[in-house]
Amino acid sequence: MILVTGGAGFIGANFILEWIAREGTPVINLDKLTYAGNLGNLASLKNDARHIFVKGDINDRALAARLLKEHQPQAIVHFAAESHVDRSISGPSEFVQTNVVGTFSLLEEARAYWSALSGTAKNEFRFLHVSTDEVYGSLASNDPAFSETTPYAPNSPYAASKAASDHLVRAYHHTYGLPTIATNCSNNYGPLQFPEKLIPLMIYNATHEKPLPVYGDGLNVRDWLYVGDHCAGIRAALKKGQPGETYNIGGNSEKTNLEVVNTLCAIVDELRPQGAPHAKLIKFVADRPGHDKRYAINAEKIRREIGWQPAEKFETGLRKTVQWYFDNPAWIDGVTSGAYRAWLDLNYGSR
Ligand code: NAD
Ligand code: TYD
Repeated sequence: MILVTGGAGFIGANFILEWIAREGTPVINLDKLTYAGNLGNLASLKNDARHIFVKGDINDRALAARLLKEHQPQAIVHFAAESHVDRSISGPSEFVQTNVVGTFSLLEEARAYWSALSGTAKNEFRFLHVSTDEVYGSLASNDPAFSETTPYAPNSPYAASKAASDHLVRAYHHTYGLPTIATNCSNNYGPLQFPEKLIPLMIYNATHEKPLPVYGDGLNVRDWLYVGDHCAGIRAALKKGQPGETYNIGGNSEKTNLEVVNTLCAIVDELRPQGAPHAKLIKFVADRPGHDKRYAINAEKIRREIGWQPAEKFETGLRKTVQWYFDNPAWIDGVTSGAYRAWLDLNYGSR
């Protein structure tokens, strides 16, 4: 039995689906169901007793304490977060509340629970904190990729809130001995990603013949990783990672945003020739304030110590992703509700 937070979101839901398919042991899923959480992501587990869904906030300490006491999980895998940089720019408060204070609350309850364990249960317990490469700041084009020893230099409110949570996780290991493991991963893409992030937004807009808004000159670089590879990396770190350690997870797949959008348009042209060439929809819009130029991950440590490396190539992963969005129009319709349209107006209306 493991406790997953944020399991109704993009990566958390992929993680739970794969966990139950591969490991087969039960999962308690604690999720507040913000705009980014969607139980439809886990519809295939509706009648599966191994998925126990609890709607709640990680800031609710009494709830976390009760779940830990009742279910005695052998690990906590902590995904719950506000995760979108643009939203952190227009409204940073929730980012501090969930990412910083929420992680602190969960660490406190995990510490109380773990302290009362004994024997194997205590030795084998893990608190796995899922974090991002954005805590390291921005790279120049010829800088070496981020490693686990790169100094923290977060630039957005999102990155700063994740950096603060990483520091708390580190301190709980160092001070109290809580067996924490932290993973810092590069940009994910794949099925179930909310269409506010670059790749699903571009798929959604291209298929609706809407402009494809590229920020600035489109030359910012991200290191893309297929979500299934990230989930495999987390499972591997949970099993083989050393308490107190941090592991960088990345796709070894650096692309400029323009390359991503052009490749995606070519796939859409092929699968849905009507409206081709979709690249004609690209529209350069005002840049994101403080936009980080480049992220790149050196994932050598997790490869060497744990034996994990990405299995998916960007082009094949992107094709699978576009196909998934085409095959799941009901999912897209479900998440692009009134609140979604309000976000589009707020973020893109004045660009
Ligand atoms: P997401 O925004 O899709 O999902 C977040 C989930 O957390 C949602 O289900 C939401 O309802 C839930 N949540 C939010 N606030 C909560 C609260 N206070 N209590 C309980 N649940 C709450 O995010 P994602 O893209 O799946 O990211 C998951 C984690 O992975 C985050 O910690 C993020 O920082 C990290 N990460 C994401 C990426 C990426 O590319 N998406 C890359 C590296 C790391
Ligand atoms: P995003 O998916 O928001 O992830 P992050 O900011 O966490 O890296 O954005 C990925 C890149 O795409 C980033 O450089 C910003 C850019 N971008 C656009 O050019 N247009 C858009 O509409 C969005 C959402 C992002």
